[in-house]
Amino acid sequence: MNAFPKTRAFVWKKDRLLLLDQRVLPHRLVWKTCRTWSDVARGIKEMVVRGAPAIGCVAAYGVVLAAKAKAFRTREDQMRALEHAFDGLLQSRPTAVNLRWALERLRLIWQEPETYGVHVLTPQGVAKCLEQEAIKVEEEDREFNSRIGRLGAALLPLDAVVLTHCNTGSLATAGLGTAFGVLWTAHRGNKIRKVIASETRPYLQGARLTAWELQQEKIPFELITDSMAAHFMKTEKIDAVIVGADRIAANGDTANKIGTYSLAVLASHHDIPFYVAAPFSTVDLTTATGRDIPIEERSAKEVTWVRGQSIAPKNTLARHPAFDVTPSDLIHAIITDRGVAKPPYTESLKDLFERQPVLI
Ligand code: MRU
Repeated sequence: MNAFPKTRAFVWKKDRLLLLDQRVLPHRLVWKTCRTWSDVARGIKEMVVRGAPAIGCVAAYGVVLAAKAKAFRTREDQMRALEHAFDGLLQSRPTAVNLRWALERLRLIWQEPETYGVHVLTPQGVAKCLEQEAIKVEEEDREFNSRIGRLGAALLPLDAVVLTHCNTGSLATAGLGTAFGVLWTAHRGNKIRKVIASETRPYLQGARLTAWELQQEKIPFELITDSMAAHFMKTEKIDAVIVGADRIAANGDTANKIGTYSLAVLASHHDIPFYVAAPFSTVDLTTATGRDIPIEERSAKEVTWVRGQSIAPKNTLARHPAFDVTPSDLIHAIITDRGVAKPPYTESLKDLFERQPVLI
């Protein structure tokens, strides 16, 4: 077994960013080239790249492309261009907080360079610092995934059957993945009997992406439709449900892919532990509860059409909230790179926030 997953969602090439087009996976491997920040913003908006930590990483590279866009005569010119790119990238998707987290981290460099340890910067110097920081965001995410994997795998019993939702692997992050990283690490430790992956209607991240990653990593799995979860929780041994997150509020309420909330309710009914795995950059202590998390509403056509084929009568009204919020009282633990938070989350997440991150 490889020490590193075989798939990568994005590759930085200094003057361009390559995105693996996740819309056509698993049947076609197509790389899209982004040469400008707006190419990156479009790639995020149109789901070429998706998954909260991956979005944060590629947005950071989008800023670098904006900083290198031309030979800026002054820092002020460059700063205006960077602010414009910041706003454009921030608007590309609203729910995953990692996007804002990464952009704000880079903005410190052009707004307050002294906090970055430099005082006088040329436009070229700013671009260089931004590139170094974006690479650090990516490398840290990879390291955070490994830590989440180790901490999460320790929570699973031997011979575990684990249900997961959406896609949280190397296509959604810079490394092993979050919930997927836990499964990968537990499998490596011979703890996994099988993974049950839900197809994740309507965008099918489970069927198209997670099944593909599980297959590549040779982790035994079965694919089910979302509506089969209750049946299998009742009729088969499922030891845990583990999912990723797009934003975790200060009280532990967690926004994740639509369908996560129903899995948590079902898990509670069947007495199955329900775990969330995410880097600490997904925790947003400025958002008090799940009610304050903006939920992206995507095109209804993604519900009424499947892979280019209409499945509903013409003019059917449909809804497509892309995420839902799982109340914290349904979550047994939140596994982060800084440690495992347990209820009450208002206290445990604050404790982890105060703990210094172990940076690479
Ligand atoms: O709409 P998507 O595909 O970007 O949604 C992704 C998810 O909801 C993932 O579960 C979440 O981002 C965690 S990824 C490590």
